[in-house]
This record gives sequence, structure tokens and C-alpha cells, in this order.
Amino acid sequence: MDAGGSAPDYTFEAFARHDFYRTVNEHLVDATLQIRERLPSLPIHRALDLACGTGAVTKLLADRLRAMREPVEIVGVDPSESALEKARRFVGSAAEFVRGTAQAFSNVVSGVDIILFCNAIHLLPDKEPVIAEARQALNNGGVLGFNTSFYDGCYTPGTERFYKLWMLRSLQLLKQEAGIRPDRTKVQAMRWLSPEEYRDMLERNGFEVAQMTAEQAMMTCQSWQDISQYSEFAEGALPGVPLDTAISVLKRSVAQTYEEMGINELPRNWLQVVARAV
Ligand SMILES: C[S@@+](CC[C@H](N)C(=O)[O-])C[C@H]1O[C@@H](n2cnc3c(N)ncnc32)[C@H](O)[C@@H]1O
Repeated sequence: MDAGGSAPDYTFEAFARHDFYRTVNEHLVDATLQIRERLPSLPIHRALDLACGTGAVTKLLADRLRAMREPVEIVGVDPSESALEKARRFVGSAAEFVRGTAQAFSNVVSGVDIILFCNAIHLLPDKEPVIAEARQALNNGGVLGFNTSFYDGCYTPGTERFYKLWMLRSLQLLKQEAGIRPDRTKVQAMRWLSPEEYRDMLERNGFEVAQMTAEQAMMTCQSWQDISQYSEFAEGALPGVPLDTAISVLKRSVAQTYEEMGINELPRNWLQVVARAV
């Protein structure tokens, strides 16, 4: 609890408000719906926002689907109860939010026509069972749209120095102020998949890739500071470091890095994928 008595917010909410983030997600939602609309004889009855977090994508989806002739049931699934509470407040009655994981959501929701799975697939150590579960949950003609900015190809050429410098400045601050180093043994080895590996995985599990693109977003220093406030990001970047220390160090060192490099924005690629169930 802070001095005002409210619990600190370690969710993704602040990052999700950035314009570039809204834009990449909007493009994915629109591309997913466009692919599905090529099957006009199959109406959309139910849509799922998997790993919905605080509901940013659920709201986009609800706004787009409101125009449909038939009402569409929208369900958001996430394991974090604090994120779901925010999503319920943000989206209101346009969607139902239930607790569940990407590894086992078909017991919570099935028979869906659209699945959106945004900015989360990279968090899962074993992605294949989730893709298989998504195929199981989709009706005939169903469409899966997912995106990630943590994949082999997300660094735009020439930006590698930024990530190295940010980590170096973080380690220096941690040592100076807390006398500690991250504990790399506390982090699960997580390899970023390439677009081709995602394509193969989809094809092995009953999908056909309808669209796969890399979309560039321009990230501000504030956006990195906001993502540093998200517990899963801070714990992944500085494993084993007390969370509040990690967040504070990451926020200050990224500001220092932007200043040293003399930049206001940094390009980063989002992999945008839409796949049809076949
Ligand atoms: C970076 S946020 C993305 C939220 C939202 N989809 C968006 O794009 O704005 C990642 C979300 O994945 C959720 N998450 C983490 N592990 C998960 C799992 N095993 N199954 C489903 N969701 C998970 C987190 O709780 C968090 O809400």
C-alpha cells in the first residue's frame, strides 16, 4: 500500500493507453475481421479476447462488432484478477470477463468464431498447446489473430545499441544504489520465435496463415517507462530484483539512455498474424 492507501498498480494499463499501441492492435483487429468477412455466409456469434488484460483490445473488438447485424457475445479471458477488474470497469457490459489461462481456456469458453490473442504469446514458454487449444475452440471458418513485439525480428536494424545501453545503465544503477545484480537463474529460458517458426506451428495445428506482417511502431521514452511498471516486464528484464527497485531502476535508466542517444522515439516491430482454421 502507498501513503494514500491504494495498492501499487503493476498492470499493463498505462502502456496500453499509448497511441502507437492502440494503432497496431486496431490494425490486427481489423485484419482479423476482414479475413472472417470473406465468409459472409457464416455469421459471427462469439468472439474471444484471450489474455485480455485490462481490456484495451476487448474494447476495440466490442466497438468494431457493435455494428454487426447479429449481436456478438464477447468474452475476455485472463489469469490476473486485478487486470480483469479493470477490464470490467473499462469495457462495461459489452463483454463478459472470466478468469482462465491460455493453456486451458476451452473449459471456460468454446465454440468461438474469432480469437484475438494480443501481446501475450511470447509470455508462454510452451506455445504449441495454446495454438492447438485455439484450434479446438474455433468453429468452422474461425479466425485467430495474434501479435507480439517479442519475436526474432522485433529489433529494427540499428536499434540493438539502445537495448544494450539501457541494460548497462540499469545494471550500473542497481549496483550503485542497491549493491545487487539480477539473478539470471530466476528467469525461465525464453527464446523468441521467428515468423517462420510461428507459421510452421500454425500449419502443424490446423491453421492456414492468411496474413503475416511486421508493423513498425515508434516507441517513446514514456512508453518504455510505462511498460517497466508492468510486473511481468520488470521481472523479466531484471530477474530476482525486488519489483519496486527493478521498476524504479528501469524507468530512470531508460530516460538516461534516450538522453545519451539523443532520441525522442525508437522504432520497434510488431509481428501481426491472422490465421484461418482449416
Ligand atoms: C502484455 S499484456 C496484454 C494484454 C492485452 N491482450 C493487450 O494486448 O493489451 C499480457 C497479458 O497476458 C496475461 N497472461 C500471462 N500469462 C498468461 C497465460 N498463461 N494465459 C493467458 N494470459 C496470460 C497477463 O495477465 C496479461 O494480462
